[in-house]
Amino acid sequence: MNENISASIAGAAFVGGQAVKLGRRKPSALASSERTSEGNRPSVFKSQYSTGELLGEGGYGSVRAGVRKADGKQVAIKYVRKSPDDDFITIPGETHSLPREVALMEMVSKPSRCENVLELYEWFDMSDSYILVLERPSPCKDLRQFLNGHNCRLSEPLAKQILRQLVQAARHCNDHGVLHRDIKAENILINTETLELKLIDFGCGCLLQDTPYKCYAGTWAYCPPEWLCEGLYLGVPATIWSLGVVLFDMVCGHLPFGCEDDIIDRNMRIAPGLSQREKERTKY
Ligand SMILES: Nc1ncnc2c1ncn2[C@@H]1O[C@H](COP(=O)(O)OP(=O)(O)O)[C@@H](O)[C@H]1O
Ligand SMILES: [Mg+2]
Repeated sequence: MNENISASIAGAAFVGGQAVKLGRRKPSALASSERTSEGNRPSVFKSQYSTGELLGEGGYGSVRAGVRKADGKQVAIKYVRKSPDDDFITIPGETHSLPREVALMEMVSKPSRCENVLELYEWFDMSDSYILVLERPSPCKDLRQFLNGHNCRLSEPLAKQILRQLVQAARHCNDHGVLHRDIKAENILINTETLELKLIDFGCGCLLQDTPYKCYAGTWAYCPPEWLCEGLYLGVPATIWSLGVVLFDMVCGHLPFGCEDDIIDRNMRIAPGLSQREKERTKY
């Protein structure tokens, strides 16, 4: 894969394997009366949580292990750097707007919850970042680390078990009006004891609409061909495409497409040794 590939098509941006989040500037900053709860005052964060080891780093900040002092609950603490391009979303039915990732996580956390979607406990609005206090499955790895620990390739039954949970998570998001848009191995956590899956990182997501999208945010290797060919895509088919890419990655040991032209031409390298059934699944 060309790690430094960078392309921009009708407002889309891809940089290497990193997700690119498109921003829309909110006309004015959030007024303090618009904040969601008492709990998200900056000074409260330090008094309520202690932070520990680095769990991961993505394109937009870092995630650390944390503990809620009041009851010793293990949490993950995600720091998202503020940027002038930050995007705000008003949850349907509400009046105040929230940072994109917070808003989408609140939407998917509404009843009925899905055990395969990571929970947001609360969030804090700091001077230069947002802090998201998140569920922390333990022991867990992201699917990329999990694959690396399995020689990059999973058995078909194990891949099926993971895919089934991923479909549940994606369907839950769509049912709650959320398009995740960046479903990939790095954004999936696996509890290494129970094999329970959690979908994480809603930073590239948006509200689900049933008309075609004209801009894209996410990771190019998972992007559907209709976006590259026509500059348009629908939310649910694009989600299903990305699930296919994850399935391919799990059973073949590598991503299907090396460059954008390969996506357009459906030019995939299928690893030897796959069952006929799995070959058919990964092709369509
Ligand atoms: N709740 C969590 N528990 C454990 N590890 C996590 C958690 N959230 C994120 N991580 C780790 O941190 C990495 C980056 O987190 P992510 O939310 O995807 O950030 P980014 O938006 O920067 O991509 C993940 O790939 C994963 O390895
Ligand atoms: Mg991520």
